[in-house]
Amino acid sequence: MTTFRIAVLPGDGIGTEVMDAGQRVLEHAASRGGLAFEWTTFDWSCERYTTHGAMLPDDGLDQLAGFDSIFLGAVGYPGVPDHVSLWGLLIPIRRTFKQYVNLRPVRLLRGIDSPIRALAEDPDDLLDFVCVRENNEGEYSEVGGRLYRGTPDELAVQESVFTRRGVERVMRYAFGLADGRDGQLASATKSNGIIHTMPFWDEIFAELAGSYPRVTTAQYHIDALAALFVQDPRRFDVVVASNLFGDILTDLGAAVVGSIGIAPSANLNPEREHPSMFEPVHGSAPDIAGQGIANPIGQVWSGSMMLDHLGHPQLGEAVLEAVQIVLDAGLRTRDLGGTATTDEVTDAICDALDDVEIHPDGTRG
Ligand code: NAI
Ligand code: MG
Repeated sequence: MTTFRIAVLPGDGIGTEVMDAGQRVLEHAASRGGLAFEWTTFDWSCERYTTHGAMLPDDGLDQLAGFDSIFLGAVGYPGVPDHVSLWGLLIPIRRTFKQYVNLRPVRLLRGIDSPIRALAEDPDDLLDFVCVRENNEGEYSEVGGRLYRGTPDELAVQESVFTRRGVERVMRYAFGLADGRDGQLASATKSNGIIHTMPFWDEIFAELAGSYPRVTTAQYHIDALAALFVQDPRRFDVVVASNLFGDILTDLGAAVVGSIGIAPSANLNPEREHPSMFEPVHGSAPDIAGQGIANPIGQVWSGSMMLDHLGHPQLGEAVLEAVQIVLDAGLRTRDLGGTATTDEVTDAICDALDDVEIHPDGTRG
């Protein structure tokens, strides 16, 4: 039996609640699929920061290096600035482990009310595309500075960093993904206004397109692309975007398909030289933390993506099918208009998983 060693970082707020749900569903999936998980939980969080002055210990990243994957809940604690959690934990993990692909599926599940469904001619015509966000460089850089603070001459400079290696590798991943799907790749640009980095981005996109003859390409300025995410999202198959553009687009993607509470993401090191990290898109939701009503689907779906990455895509798809069964049955948390608790939805997903046919080697019948 294969055993996967997983580093568990529940984080803060509802992170700890949905992590418990995610682990329960994955345990259930593992028992059905003939694998096992060995979990090691770390209390690294914003709450830890308030007592220790750091999100993680000095050797924290070394501790994570040996795991097969990292499963993260959410971080964020009242009183701790958001840049502390981002630059103190998430970005160091994403960069140290070269998780340069941030993969976010935008899929409309049945049973979720969405502004998009109303636009569909056929309400069963489900939306299904994937965003590939560059996750290691771009607009999120430490290059820059501030001068003359507190005076009328005060100024701030923030530089973007786009490297050929960094742009090529994330685009190659996106082309490869599109090649294996419907063969359409859209690139988010803004080369009319951003005159150095974005033309560079566009040139590399055009160069690479030649190596993927099966993939049809399109490029859109980010403003127009954002409008199309709302007006005509069905035209997309795979979308590739820089770090900042991808961040904004994927939150929009999550919003158009229903609730932030169901959206999953994967931070991938495609070469598998380092662990990848799987986390829901949502944050620690202090407004509902401790009430047991958080939607566990974002965490569970992230777990399904972890199963894909660990080489068990059929099992990952089975987990998602179980989620769909539960939604079809009308069981929902409050964010989706229901009254069910986190535990009730989690139990129901585990039960539904029993009804999904899975072969002992992890393949589905
Ligand atoms: P948030 O995602 O935590 O919450 C936004 C809204 O969505 C809230 O009303 C919340 O109740 C609701 N919500 C989110 N997830 C839900 C779920 N699973 N079930 C039901 N409702 C859900 O974003 P917000 O409020 O902007 O940030 C709160 C904290 O989380 C901040 O400290 C922020 O820095 C942090 N954060 C952390 C992220 C991460 O760990 N990757 C990502 C986004 C925010
Ligand atoms: Mg975001």
